[in-house]
Amino acid sequence: MKQKNNYYTKKHKKKKQGKTLTITLLISGIVMTGLLVWLGLNDWNVGKSMKKAQEVIGMSVPEEDDNTAEPDEKAEPVKEQGGTSEQKPAEQTPSNPAGDDNAESGTAEKPEPSIDNGGYVEGQQLPEEPKYINEILIANKKYPLPKTYAPGEDKEARAAFEKMAAEAKLSQFNLTAFSTYRSFDYQTTLYERYVARDGKEAADTYSARPGYSEHQTGLAFDIGEVNFEQHFASASFGETEAGKWVAMNAHRFGFIMRYPAGKEHVTGYMHESWHFRYVGTEIATEIYNRKITLEEYLGI
Ligand code: DAL
Ligand code: ZN
Repeated sequence: MKQKNNYYTKKHKKKKQGKTLTITLLISGIVMTGLLVWLGLNDWNVGKSMKKAQEVIGMSVPEEDDNTAEPDEKAEPVKEQGGTSEQKPAEQTPSNPAGDDNAESGTAEKPEPSIDNGGYVEGQQLPEEPKYINEILIANKKYPLPKTYAPGEDKEARAAFEKMAAEAKLSQFNLTAFSTYRSFDYQTTLYERYVARDGKEAADTYSARPGYSEHQTGLAFDIGEVNFEQHFASASFGETEAGKWVAMNAHRFGFIMRYPAGKEHVTGYMHESWHFRYVGTEIATEIYNRKITLEEYLGI
C-alpha cells in the first residue's frame, strides 16, 4: 500500500510536470505570436512597437519635437484708434522750436493712412473765394482758401478768447493764444520747414499746406498757459489741468477743439489738444455735446 502509494505519487508528479510544461509552452506560444503580430502591426519597428505599447497601457510618452506644434497664441498687430496701424516715430514728432510761437507740434498718432495724397485732392487749385457752408467759413484739406485771403485775427474770436481767459484765471489758469492768424506766406514758411525736417508725408499729418490752414481764417487759436511754453503745440498740453479746463469749457465761449483724438480720419490731422476754432457758442456747444467734428456737423 505504501509502495503503491509511492508509485502513485511519482506517477502523479510526472503527469503534473508534463501538464505544467504544456501550459507554459502554450502561453509562451501565445505571447510570442502576440508580439510578432504587434511588431507586424507597427511596421516591424521595435521602438515604435514599444512606444505604442506604453500608450496602450496608459504610460505618458514625451512629445517629440517635430516642429508641427503651434504657438499658444499668434500675436496680432495692435491697431490703433482711428484705424491707423503705425505709430508716429519719436524722431518724427515735431518739437516746438524755441522762440517760435507760431509752431505746431504734437505726439499723437498719424491720421488714417487711406487718405490719399495726404488727404488733399490731387491737382486742386486754390479758389478765388473762401468757402462758406451754412454761413460757416471752412478751411480744411478739401476746402482751401484763396491765396489772397488775409482777414487778420477775427475780432469776435479774440473777444471770446479774452472772456474765456478771464474765467480761466478764476481757476488759476493763465491762458494765452500763442498762434492765431497766420498769413498764406507765413504758413508757407512753416509748412516747408516741417517738410524739410520730417518729410512731406509726416508734415501733412500735423501742418496744413499753404492755403489750407484754418489759421489763415483768423478764427483758429492755439491755446497754451503762460510760463508753460514746454506744452505749447504739444500733446502734453492736453494732460495739464489748464489743457483739461480748456477742453471742457471752450465751447461755452464759442470754441471747438478742431482736431480731436479718434477723428484723424475725418479731419485729416493728428489730434491737437491746443488748436481751437471759433464758431460761436451755439454751434460749439452742439459740436461739443455730440462729440463730433466741424466736418461731421456740416456733413462734408
Ligand atoms: N496745425 C494745423 C493743422 C495747421 O497747420 O493749420
Ligand atoms: Zn493751430
